[in-house]
Amino acid sequence: MPDSTNRPWLEESIQALAVKGVAIIDSFEPLLQLEKQGLDAFARAGTIDEIESLRVEYLGLKRGRIKTEQEKIKGMAPDAKRPYGRLFNEVKSALESALESARNRLEKPAQAVDSLDVSLPGPRRKLGHRHPLTQTADELIDLFGRFGFSVARGPEVEDSFHNFEALNIPPIHPARDPLDNFYLPDGSLLRSQTSTVQIRVMESQLPPIRVIAIGRVYRPDAVDATHSFMFHQVEGLMVDKGVTMADLKTVLRLFAQSYLGEDVQIRFRPSFFPFTEPSVEVDMMWHGGDRWVEMGGAGMVDPNVFRAVGYDPDEVTGFAFGLGIERLCMRRHGIDDIRLLYQNDARFLSQF
Ligand code: FA5
Repeated sequence: MPDSTNRPWLEESIQALAVKGVAIIDSFEPLLQLEKQGLDAFARAGTIDEIESLRVEYLGLKRGRIKTEQEKIKGMAPDAKRPYGRLFNEVKSALESALESARNRLEKPAQAVDSLDVSLPGPRRKLGHRHPLTQTADELIDLFGRFGFSVARGPEVEDSFHNFEALNIPPIHPARDPLDNFYLPDGSLLRSQTSTVQIRVMESQLPPIRVIAIGRVYRPDAVDATHSFMFHQVEGLMVDKGVTMADLKTVLRLFAQSYLGEDVQIRFRPSFFPFTEPSVEVDMMWHGGDRWVEMGGAGMVDPNVFRAVGYDPDEVTGFAFGLGIERLCMRRHGIDDIRLLYQNDARFLSQF
């Protein structure tokens, strides 16, 4: 029995003709088989050539199997011709659709592959990169590492002992003014300088010491092109027998030339810090060459600081420095405004 379940009209015709004594099932079955085989074959075809030979086999105008079935109509009983013709048309168009979708399936991807130029570069992945301040910090770690300095870290929320007292800054000192610091309700504060790490290192290690500490510091400074309320410092500390101011100046000069270029001009100005004696301010000639900008403070570690951490100032001497990382980064890359470093504008950051 041919599978005519999808064609209610065909069932009805077969039954109606049977009533009249016309048996048409045998004549319709080859057409239904042809349809089934053809649809299967087109669906399984794997190449364009295969589709083409299936087209000739099933739909070929001269010798196609569909043509053979079409010929049969001539010898049919007149009552059967009408349903047979209808079935023939349906089978033919089903096979034509199957041919069309097989072509689409195989030809479209082939065209897409043809139009693909495999020699073109692949899609450019837009990977992020380290922030210029992070790049600067990493480079400082590398440069000072070559001078024998290792890296130390300390907390950003500090107690007043490490931020002030141990650094020889007594309670009445103006540097402790609440207007100059970010105090927390419990009396601790956001560290205002990385010099705090000097103390923490000396508390935990004996000389000789050669460390740098890099990190964020906080001060309620008015924001302008070279000042921010949060910025980064690199602190340096060297303690040993016989360390002198000449060592300090040599290390800072070599560092500045390595990071900012051989031709950089730096100068040392006498200054004052409670935790160094003598103290200096270190300036660098700004890009453009028309003004000096302060790079950091430095000096020989004050004997009182050594006493606060239990070192004997008659035994060892040392130097310390604290440099502003933003300003170093700005001078290195010709950046005019510190605020650009915090705005996270990808157009700006992608240049570094
Ligand atoms: C100090 O903070 C000292 N602790 C430095 C020091 C360390 C002296 C060890 C002696 C021994 P000063 O306040 O000058 O120093 O700051 C050091 C550097 O931080 C400045 O030269 C500048 O480069 C940078 N800096 C200071 N304030 C700001 C700010 N508001 N924004 C950006 N950078 C700043």
